[in-house]
Amino acid sequence: MYNISGRSRRRSGSPPLVSSWVPFIGKALEFRKDAHKFLEEQRRKYGDVFTVLIAGKYMTFIMDPLLYPNIIKHGRQLDFHKFTQEVVPSTFGYPPVLDEVYPGLWDQIRRSFQLLQGDNLSPLTESMMGNLMLVFRQDHFDQDGGWKTNSMYEFCSSAMFEATFLTIYGKPETGSRHVEMEKLREDFVKFDNVFPLLIAQIPIWLLGQTKAIREKLISYFLPQQMSRWSNMSQFIRRRSELFNQQGQLKDVHKAAHHFAILWASVSNTIPATFWAAYYLVKHPEALQVVRQQILDVLRDGGVEFSPNRYTMLSRDQLDKLVFLESSINESLRLSSSSMNIRVAQEDFALRLDAKRSVDVRKGDIIALYPQSMHLDPEIYEDPQDSRGKTDFYKNGQKLKYYLMPFGSGSTICPGRFFAMNEIKQFVCLLLLYFDLQLEDEHKHPSLVSNRAGLGILQPSTDVVLRYRRRAQ
Ligand code: HEM
Repeated sequence: MYNISGRSRRRSGSPPLVSSWVPFIGKALEFRKDAHKFLEEQRRKYGDVFTVLIAGKYMTFIMDPLLYPNIIKHGRQLDFHKFTQEVVPSTFGYPPVLDEVYPGLWDQIRRSFQLLQGDNLSPLTESMMGNLMLVFRQDHFDQDGGWKTNSMYEFCSSAMFEATFLTIYGKPETGSRHVEMEKLREDFVKFDNVFPLLIAQIPIWLLGQTKAIREKLISYFLPQQMSRWSNMSQFIRRRSELFNQQGQLKDVHKAAHHFAILWASVSNTIPATFWAAYYLVKHPEALQVVRQQILDVLRDGGVEFSPNRYTMLSRDQLDKLVFLESSINESLRLSSSSMNIRVAQEDFALRLDAKRSVDVRKGDIIALYPQSMHLDPEIYEDPQDSRGKTDFYKNGQKLKYYLMPFGSGSTICPGRFFAMNEIKQFVCLLLLYFDLQLEDEHKHPSLVSNRAGLGILQPSTDVVLRYRRRAQ
């Protein structure tokens, strides 16, 4: 086997190393172009476990989902946070959160994630409902009742971006909407487009205007600005308090932390909302079943829906929308490519199953790539049948993990319950208030594959949505 780094990797027990003739970069370019395709090719050549050199890092991919539980559970020898601790701060422009410099901050930040879950989910969900209603009412409810057209991605993106922003960060000093929202979203999209390069540690000065755009985005969250906002979520209030307790942390770095949360809260939710809405509009018979259940749940709660009235769906009511939930899960399965990463803390033999183990070296990355599982026809034989199902099999064995758009184990997304609820709320309003059609029923966008491993993939082309206010 070609030894790329000069260090000998071919010890017995090492997984096969995918060879490359390009030192350092290794297979990074092929991986970035289409990670799913690239990994499936390697799996065919080398089997379920192999190592690839990607941008100077040895990454061992575990492709068999039956082996996932052993990796996800692995404690001491595989660190969950090492990767994010190194890469995320430089991407968003704040210094690494080291205990020596900011005592206790790392743990406190992690504890703040609780404020997105449990009992705290109810006020967040209620606030999101009000904010979505506000945006829908002011931007999309007009009285003429005729058909209108809009880019479907734009419709989802503008409503979800603004309503999520208002829910998490609160309202401006005057008025109910931040006047700069459109500009903020424009800059956000520019930043998000180069995000895969930043997270791959390409220096920001090589990326054109990105540094200036990021500074602008960060400046939006400076403490003097945020102190004027009201109705802020408990989550952001708590994080601001934590940052203020750290004398060492500059205002611009506090703002950069807040900006990172904006990215986490909308960058995946927007394409996920698009796909959820798109698949339903594409399948009118499924849409009708989902819509009927929303109407039934409202009626069971004593409310006869009227398109002229404000709609409120509580967290409990959203939980009852099982058809909607399974159709969102199905669209997440088809569109997500989140890679799960662990870093080896020492040289050790990683036990894969009762018979097999592989040698891993300190600093090596162990990666799960659930998109390969999500798109495996053996596991998901018939996409239509997988709705609501929880037992999936590979080689005749039941899978413990079969849907992983939100990551796994201790790094699993803390915003997943809120995300699910807000996507449900958006789709509910769309289905309740509008008749919906695709302008071109035969056009089907594919996935843009260049955001390797980073979350929900975006559509390759937009689709035009036709919508009309529903009559009684
Ligand atoms: C982390 C997915 C929405 C907040 C993550 C991770 C994934 C993910 C894959 C990384 C897990 C890992 O490192 O293994 C998604 C998807 C979403 C979504 C698919 C929408 C469909 C949200 C929302 C919020 C949020 C709405 C907040 C309001 C976070 C935070 C982290 C995170 C703070 C970092 C957690 C950490 O540092 O451990 N998300 N997410 N996410 N997500 Fe989400």
